[in-house]
Amino acid sequence: MEEIREIATRFERIGAHSHIRGLGLDENLRAKDVADGLVGQRKAREAAGIIVKLIQSGKMAGRGILIAGPPGTGKTAIAVAISKELGKDIPFVQVSASEFYSSEMKKTEALIQTMRKAIGVRIRETRTVLEGEIVGLDYNMVPNPYNPTQKIPESATLTLATKDEKRTFSVSSRLALQFLYNGIEVGDVVVIDKETGRISKIGKSEKAKKKYDLGDYDVVEVPKGRVEKDKEFTYVVTLHDLDEANARRTTIFSLFSTESREIDNEIREAVNEQVKRWVEEGRAELVPGVLFIDETHLMDIELFAFMNRAMESEMAPIIILASNRGFSKIRGTDIVAPHGIPLDLLDRLLIITTEEYSRDEIKTILEIRAAEAGILLDKDALEKLTDLGVANSLRYAVQLLAPAYEYAKIRNSGKVEVEDVERAANIFVDVNQSSAYLKKWEEKMLTL
Ligand SMILES: Nc1ncnc2c1ncn2[C@@H]1O[C@H](COP(=O)(O)OP(=O)(O)OP(=O)(O)O)[C@@H](O)[C@H]1O
Ligand SMILES: [Mg+2]
Repeated sequence: MEEIREIATRFERIGAHSHIRGLGLDENLRAKDVADGLVGQRKAREAAGIIVKLIQSGKMAGRGILIAGPPGTGKTAIAVAISKELGKDIPFVQVSASEFYSSEMKKTEALIQTMRKAIGVRIRETRTVLEGEIVGLDYNMVPNPYNPTQKIPESATLTLATKDEKRTFSVSSRLALQFLYNGIEVGDVVVIDKETGRISKIGKSEKAKKKYDLGDYDVVEVPKGRVEKDKEFTYVVTLHDLDEANARRTTIFSLFSTESREIDNEIREAVNEQVKRWVEEGRAELVPGVLFIDETHLMDIELFAFMNRAMESEMAPIIILASNRGFSKIRGTDIVAPHGIPLDLLDRLLIITTEEYSRDEIKTILEIRAAEAGILLDKDALEKLTDLGVANSLRYAVQLLAPAYEYAKIRNSGKVEVEDVERAANIFVDVNQSSAYLKKWEEKMLTL
C-alpha cells in the first residue's frame, strides 16, 4: 500500500524547543526524571501522557485542554512534546492566538480555517495504475501552433517493463508534455494513474543508476508482476485542504490569487456532507487532530464564543490552550475570569498546571539546550547562567546562551566562560529590568 501524505504544516517556531523529542514517559506513563529532552515537571508530563493515549484512541474528540502556569515553565514545551508523541499520522497545528487577527480575513474565519487544518481525512482509494520501469520513450515532436520556432510533443510512445512483462502505450500530447516538464526519462520507475494520467516518479532502476550515476534520487527495484494493476492508495488531507479545493472549483478568481481568503460556509457544509458520505461508504476515515493555541489570553470574547460553539460540531479538533495569566480580563470585556477564559469554555477543559523549576532543574535544562545548540559551557559559566535563570527566568537564561557563545568565539575560544555570560547579561537585560528602567525614566519625565 502506498502512503501519500499531505498533512498541515506542523511547526514553524520550534527553534527554542528543538531539544524536545517526546514526553519522556515509561510504559506505565510515569515520567522519567530526564528523558526525551524534558526535565522535571512530572505531573504535567504524566497528564499529557494520558491525553495522548485518549487522543490516539479517539476518546478526546470535541474536548479541550488548558495548560496553565507561570511564564517559562514549559507549557509550550509540553505541547511540542505531545505533538511528537502523537506521531505524524495525527495532524497537529500550532498557532499563537495573535495569528487570528489579520487584515485579510475576519478573525472567526481565521479560527475556523485553522480548526479545519487540524482535522485529517484519511482517504482510501483503489485505482488502476501502470507501473514499471520506462524502457522506451519516444516523443513525436511538431512545431508549436502558437510559436513555430518551438517544438512540442504531439504524442509519445511509452514502453513500461516490470520484471515479468513489457507493454507499449501511445501517450496523448497533454501527457507527453507532463513527462517533459517533470523530466521523466528512460530508466525511471514510475506509477501512472490510468484514468487521470497523473505520473509519480518512484526512483531510478538499479540498471539506470549504474549507467548514469547522477546521485540525488532513490534507487528502487523494478516492480514484479503485471504492468497494469489495481493499487490501494491512502492519502491524508485536511478538511481545510478539501475546503480550498472546492472553493477553487467554484470561483474563477482564485485562479489568479494565491493569497489566503475567506471560504463560504456553504462550501464547508458541502465538504462535511461529502466526507460523511465517504466515511459511511467506508472510503474514508476521520482523523481528529490537535489545534494548539498558544498565548490564549490574546483571544477575545468573540473568538472564545465562536470556538466554544465550533467545538460542539462532530468535526472538531481537540483544542489545547496555554495561558500564563491568573485572573485577568477576558479580552473585549470587563469581565475578570480565571486565565482570562470565559467560564463556559473553562468548564469543558481539562486543566494541566506547570510549576516553577528548582535550581537543579534549571541547570539541567540549560545543559540540554547548550548541547542541542552545540555550545560548550565551562562549569562556572553554567553555574552563573543557572543563577541568572533562578533570579530572572529560565527563558532569559536560555536566551543568553547564544550571545555568550558569540563572545566566546570573539575571544577565539570554543568554550563559554563566566566572563562571556556576564558580558551577555550586561548587554541584554531581562524583562523586569527593562520595565523597571522605563518606569524610572517615566518618573523622571513627570518631574521635569
Ligand atoms: N521541563 C523542561 N524540560 C526541558 N526544557 C524545558 C522544560 N521546560 C521548559 N523548557 C525550555 O525552556 C524554554 C521556556 O519554556 P516554554 O517556552 O515552554 O515556557 P512557557 O511555559 O510556554 O512560557 P510562556 O508562558 O512565556 O509561553 C523553552 O526553550 C523550553 O523548550
Ligand atoms: Mg509558551
